[in-house]
Amino acid sequence: MRRMLEESQQTSEEKIDPRGIKLAYALCIVFGGGLILFIIIPPILNIWTWWDIILIAAGSFLYIAPAYATNASMVIFGRNGTPIDGGKNFIDGKRLFGNGKTWQGLFGGIFTGTIVGIFLTIISIYLIWPFVQLQVGKYPMYLADINYLDAFFNPPIFLGVIRVLLICTGAPLGDLLGSFIKRRLNLERGAPAPIIDQLDFLLGAIFLAFIVFQLWWMYIIFALLVTLLLHVLSNTLAFKLGYSKEPW
Ligand code: CTP
Ligand code: MG
Repeated sequence: MRRMLEESQQTSEEKIDPRGIKLAYALCIVFGGGLILFIIIPPILNIWTWWDIILIAAGSFLYIAPAYATNASMVIFGRNGTPIDGGKNFIDGKRLFGNGKTWQGLFGGIFTGTIVGIFLTIISIYLIWPFVQLQVGKYPMYLADINYLDAFFNPPIFLGVIRVLLICTGAPLGDLLGSFIKRRLNLERGAPAPIIDQLDFLLGAIFLAFIVFQLWWMYIIFALLVTLLLHVLSNTLAFKLGYSKEPW
């Protein structure tokens, strides 16, 4: 009898709130629609061209991929790691960051992201930059500030590495700040905090790397929209395929 009760409790817990599914679909439409509008409206209104859009996409990818790599690898390195806050509480009596932020995750993430970033910087200098230079000369483009593009896609290797290091250090710092805010809002480790969870590491990366490179706003908007869309899409898909109990 008790087992049956427990089982029924379990299944009722696993029952999915239909509002959750609707919300997940709505978010896919909002972020996907936003991204599509961001891509098609400027060329239609002649604010910038399709080549500019390709440039924005390529630049955003180059810039944020190391931050993604950092963020993803922290999960692997941080398993059963030592908490950065040493288990200590903040003055409000709640954990400073929580058990989800570990030294192993932090350094493993920075290391992995930096390797990925240096690899991408080399690809950028030797493959993407020659291509960008060619297109900029051939087609009318509004974002074709050659000095900016040179610094973006063809940095001196030392500066390129510094930029990557700042991106990959900024990502976990932004993530830490996100957790700090979540703990202050009384959210347990791992409790979802929409927007904070998805964008903290990205904003941290862009913010810290601003010291050596000021990413233009259209690259930032593109990166944020893609990140939000990828997040809701992958979670909705994982949910549809039965890997996840919640569509987010
Ligand atoms: N992680 C880590 N060290 C970090 C960041 C992340 O060890 N500096 C690992 C932890 O195992 C963490 C996982 O990556 O559980 C997922 O990261 P994240 O979602 O940011 O942490 P949460 O566990 O959700 O904790 P929080 O509520 O503080 O965001
Ligand atoms: Mg989390």
